[in-house]
Formats: sequence, C-alpha cells, structure tokens
Amino acid sequence: MDNDLTLKIEHLSSGFFTERGYVPAVDDVSLSIGKGQVVGIVGESGCGKSMIARSVMGLLKYPGRITGGSIKLAGQELTGMSDGQLQRIRGKDMAMIFQEPMTSLNPVVPIGKQMREALLLHEKMDKISAKAEVLKMLEHVGISEPKKRYGAYPHELSGGLRQRVMIAMAMICKPKLLIADEPTTALDVTIEAQILRLIRSLSRETGMSVLLISHNLGVIAQMCDTVYVMYAGKIVEQADAYTLFDRHAHPYTKGLMDSVIDLKSNPRRLPAIGGVVPNLLHLPAGCAFSPRCPRAMDRCREERPELEELAPGHLCRCFEEGRERL
Ligand SMILES: Nc1ncnc2c1ncn2[C@@H]1O[C@H](COP(=O)(O)OP(=O)(O)OP(=O)(O)O)[C@@H](O)[C@H]1O
Ligand SMILES: [Mg+2]
Repeated sequence: MDNDLTLKIEHLSSGFFTERGYVPAVDDVSLSIGKGQVVGIVGESGCGKSMIARSVMGLLKYPGRITGGSIKLAGQELTGMSDGQLQRIRGKDMAMIFQEPMTSLNPVVPIGKQMREALLLHEKMDKISAKAEVLKMLEHVGISEPKKRYGAYPHELSGGLRQRVMIAMAMICKPKLLIADEPTTALDVTIEAQILRLIRSLSRETGMSVLLISHNLGVIAQMCDTVYVMYAGKIVEQADAYTLFDRHAHPYTKGLMDSVIDLKSNPRRLPAIGGVVPNLLHLPAGCAFSPRCPRAMDRCREERPELEELAPGHLCRCFEEGRERL
C-alpha cells in the first residue's frame, strides 16, 4: 500500500539553469521505497544519480532546481517546503552519507560531540542520556572502544572508521530514510564489504529504508531489493535485483553487466559499452542510448521509447524489437 512507502517519488524532474540552457539532469523519474527496503540506483557517471539524492534531501544549489513532480517522505510532500522545514526533516527523518566522510563531518569538533549535538537538536534529550545514546550507536556500527573514540577528531580516524562514524551520525536520530551516495567507493574492498553489510543489517534491524547509489553493479546486486538503472537522467530499467541480473531487458543494462564481467576476466580491457554519455544539452532525438546501442534501429533514433511494464515490477524503456534480440 502507498501508505507503507517511506519514499515515493513521482515524475520528478530537476536540472540546472545555465547560460547555455536548461540541463535536464533528472527527467520524469518515479521511484518508491517501502519500509525496510534497500533500493539501488545504478548508472554511469553524470546520469543524474546524485541529483535525485540532492533533490530528495532538499540540497540542490543554484542554478539547480526541482522543476516538476512530487517527493513524499512517509506521506509528507517535500517539494515546495521552506529551507527551515527541510532542515528539521534532514537529520531527523532522512539522512545522507557521502563518498567522502569529511564532507559531512566537522573537522574541528570531536566526533562524539558532533553526534550528541545532532541528538540535542532533533530530540528532546539531556546531555547525559544523549552521550549514552551516542556511545551505544558507535558500538552498534562496530567501533571498538567507543568511550575512547568519543573525543577523537575526524582526522585521527582511518578512512573505514570515519565512514562508520558518518553512518553512526546519520543513524543517530533513527531516520526513516538513509540515502547512501557511493558510500564505499573510496574504501578498500574488505572495508567496503563490512560497511555495506552494516548498512544492510541496520536497515533490517530498524526498518530503516535505504536508497543506495552506486555505479558498481556488484555492490548493487549484493545489497538491493529493487534496482533502478539510469541513463541520461531517465530510468531505463527497473526490476527486483534477481530479475535484473537474470533477465535484464535493456541493452544499456546488458552493457553494464558485460563491463562487470570484462573487468573480472580481464581487468585491463575497457568496459564493454563503447562511446560516451550524451551531452544533456544536446540529447539525441530518439532514445538517448541509441548512439551507443548495438541494437539500435531507425525507430530508436527518431522516437523516444516510454517506460513499459514487461512483467509485474519489471519496467524497461526500449522498443520491443530491440529487446527481443538481446
Ligand atoms: N552546476 C551544474 N551546472 C550544469 N550541469 C550540472 C551542474 N552540476 C551537475 N551537472 C550535470 O548534472 C548531471 C547529473 O549529475 P549527477 O551529479 O547527478 O551525476 P551522477 O550520476 O551522480 O554521477 P557520478 O557517478 O559521477 O556521481 C551531470 O550530467 C552533470 O554534468
Ligand atoms: Mg554522484
């Protein structure tokens, strides 16, 4: 039921008003996340993944703006809210973790104090119980000797620990929604696996919903219930993770899959999708992927395909003939 959805994005468009024209970074995107669900967005650099995250968080900066659609967090409409209203919701009901923890940690305040401040701001709590809560959360995200780390400054911690602190900080007010934008790209593989497992288990335990953004299909496969594949600002395929890996229908998704396999068997080979992502200011007339698509037909270069349902929950934006030949 819709009421059970933590996040419901409908027909969201957002972009940048530049001197050279409007850059449609997110174009008519609809995406939902149920309670406790982990939903992934995957796609190449520049396809609009972070722009969705920033639109939801209300963190778009001039000249970026939401130009249409609706974003509901637990039924509450976020578009059109004032900065003050959004600020109250950020941190409390929704939180975000970034690739680089230093972007959300204050370098001159000890980490425990930063987390405590967040609690004092959003929850009615006295300092002593807030500190106890922070210590509990640090322990929860696998930080040993939390009492000792409480007074540490961000630069005194390793990359992996800083990432854990950022997760702890994001989780401290028990948000309904956690947005993780490439949370592990900067980490080595072992730490990456640990952090991802941590996010997954925190979501299972607390019912927190997660929007996980990554260009790494392996990470997405491991973590997500539902996956959205994005290309040039649009969703081109959407399915549960199993279907997406087993029966993907869009040539772009296939290209992403093939590049993962290529990288495994021969790390030095270039990824399988030739060509580059199009300039959003000059999108091709037909399907945005058609210039790079090995299966493009005349029709694909002239008409824009719609997102169509192939099976319940499996949507694809590709003309039928192209799909059948995959
Ligand atoms: N200030 C800006 N002015 C104009 N266009 C911008 C601006 N900032 C970003 N863009 C464009 O918006 C598009 C979407 O960017 P976004 O950061 O959402 O991509 P992404 O999918 O998160 O990529 P990455 O994987 O590299 O993080 C890109 O094509 C980018 O060029
Ligand atoms: Mg990004």
